[in-house]
Amino acid sequence: MTQFYSISEIEKLDKIYRANLINSISGLKPANLIGTKSASGQTNLAIFSSVIHLGANPALLGLIVRPAMVPRHSYENMRETGFFTINHVQKDITKKAHYTSAKFDKNISEFDVCGLTAEFQNDFFAPFVKESSIKIGLKLVDEIPIKLNGTILMIGKIEQIYFPKEIITETGNLELNMAESVCASGLETYYMPYKFAEFPYAKIDKLPQF
Ligand SMILES: Cc1cc2nc3c(=O)[nH]c(=O)nc-3n(C[C@H](O)[C@H](O)[C@H](O)COP(=O)(O)O)c2cc1C
Repeated sequence: MTQFYSISEIEKLDKIYRANLINSISGLKPANLIGTKSASGQTNLAIFSSVIHLGANPALLGLIVRPAMVPRHSYENMRETGFFTINHVQKDITKKAHYTSAKFDKNISEFDVCGLTAEFQNDFFAPFVKESSIKIGLKLVDEIPIKLNGTILMIGKIEQIYFPKEIITETGNLELNMAESVCASGLETYYMPYKFAEFPYAKIDKLPQF
């Protein structure tokens, strides 16, 4: 049986119920840990599921930060220093990654309280997560406010990438199931993806029979 909600019914739903429903209805999202460091040297780590691909040349990724009604440490550090890292959540660190979302004071590093290790590599300013096997170092290049709800699209240019050699295919795709990279739905639930299909680039003169 199908459940139907009109916009007026959606607007009347309980706040948390609606947040989970609307956050999960767009589908699975990548679970990533955002690593930053303040100008004074304090490291910070937070789980984000809004990382999106914006283009490969230049290599740009975006992420959405929530409105700054409460202190947003990742956002503040990104603006203050211009650098951040994106680190895949892998299956074995999911629980630790989840709890980085708690509202810790700015002088507390989620790396320490959640049992993850800050790693500084190749002179990159922001910390990577040692326990993560796919990591990206980015420079903040733009910030676009979304007027409707006060969220902000932060745009980063990729400066460094790290991944296990054995998971890349001949055509440059990362086999994310081999890395056990986790997906998130809503703010409470995590999934493991599995690869079940692969097709060549779709061209209208090479369509299969349906
Ligand atoms: C699965 C999951 C996904 C999340 N995704 C985002 C996100 O995309 N953007 C965001 O601003 N907060 C997101 N959060 C909330 C942040 O993790 C949380 O606000 C955290 O306290 C931010 O830490 P900070 O103040 O150190 O930056 C998410 C939380 C969870 C559990």
